[in-house]
Amino acid sequence: MKAVPGGIIAPEHVVGRDPLIARLWSMLDGQGLVLTAERRMGKTTIIRKMMAEPTADLCAVYMDAERVSSPAELVERTAQSIGGHLGGSSQAKRWLVDLWAALGGTEVAGVLKLPGAKGVPWKTALERLLGGLAANAEPRVALIWDEFPWALQKIARAEGEAVVVDLLDILRGLRQTHARLRLVFTGSIGLHHVLTSLQDDGWVHSPINDMRTVEIPPLAQPDATELALLLVRGEGLDGADASAAAEHIARELDGIAYYIQHVVAKLADGGQAATPDLAARIIQHALTDPNDPWQLEHYRSRLASYYGPKAAAARALLDTLAERGPLALGDLHEALTLQFRPDSDTARALCGPDREPLRRLLKLMQRDHYLGQDADGRFGFRFPLIRRWWRLDLGLGPLPADAPAGAGQP
Ligand SMILES: Nc1ncnc2c1ncn2[C@@H]1O[C@H](COP(=O)(O)OP(=O)(O)O)[C@@H](O)[C@H]1O
Ligand SMILES: [Mg+2]
Repeated sequence: MKAVPGGIIAPEHVVGRDPLIARLWSMLDGQGLVLTAERRMGKTTIIRKMMAEPTADLCAVYMDAERVSSPAELVERTAQSIGGHLGGSSQAKRWLVDLWAALGGTEVAGVLKLPGAKGVPWKTALERLLGGLAANAEPRVALIWDEFPWALQKIARAEGEAVVVDLLDILRGLRQTHARLRLVFTGSIGLHHVLTSLQDDGWVHSPINDMRTVEIPPLAQPDATELALLLVRGEGLDGADASAAAEHIARELDGIAYYIQHVVAKLADGGQAATPDLAARIIQHALTDPNDPWQLEHYRSRLASYYGPKAAAARALLDTLAERGPLALGDLHEALTLQFRPDSDTARALCGPDREPLRRLLKLMQRDHYLGQDADGRFGFRFPLIRRWWRLDLGLGPLPADAPAGAGQP
């Protein structure tokens, strides 16, 4: 098995996800799912494996929603994926062909298109497509929209938030009307970044609260070690220290498969047998390389678009937590109060006597996978690896030897 950081992983080469996938199928029996995780945590890899290995009574149809930028396109691409799944001859396929004709749609060189403004409204097309799928597909289909929030964000920018609200309401209505319909949304960005109304109190009324939200965790340590070892062997880098190297890689990278793949790919570039020392040097280099091969800068650069006027405070929080480790709300409040002048926007927004605005920001940063909370309620970096990178960037040196593990596994 070769290292392919960021590539498509063959289902049989997906390591450590079988129990989670079994659990996801079981949940899907009863309701739709929202799979969330930091980018590169392995969401697409999981759903591609589900697509390749259906169960007896549920199968998965995949659609990459990242490229969708209007509701009509969502219908077109979904119909396209369903058509691909149904194949050429079944009765269900005939249903789709008939439906497409009834909607005035065309098929040119295998690409399905709706007629645009002249045809039925996208809402009707969506209702008929998903309603028909629920009624006709045998076995039942779980429709997976990968990175759906990206599509919603593009739709919101192009057509306004009201269209997104409409779309989500229609989807919820469809889930309620058609008991057999199963939708799975995956996303690295949360819906709260798409609909500002979901930022604060609106969260509990979220238009997806009938679906089960599942956070995809990194690999468990034994699985991460197994992945590292399989890759080391697959790349022909096996030596006396291979097991120790694999353990080191798995531990230092918090079990995140993507970085594990990167480190073994780099080991393979060098062609020397894997050792813990060699792995440690590669990791150290990746964390300080100005070319940022792991794109860690993204954690910092997206703060502005995620938190707008509160971005400076979010950065200050992360700086403080990088330096001091997990802290309670009160301590964080104090640290921010010391850092920002009382007449600054940040101080006015977050440092007053009321700690509620700060608590809300912390919750958002948890939902965005920056932070976790430990058993004592203290907030800290969700991933020690990211804390380590943040510290290096600030010139704070490596993690202290007694640094606690990640602040919180959800
Ligand atoms: N279970 C796994 N086994 C092996 N490699 C994995 C696994 N999960 C993820 N990877 C690696 O991480 C990369 C990113 O995973 P991906 O599924 O694309 O993440 P996401 O969809 O969450 O952004 C993959 O290209 C692959 O290199
Ligand atoms: Mg993905």
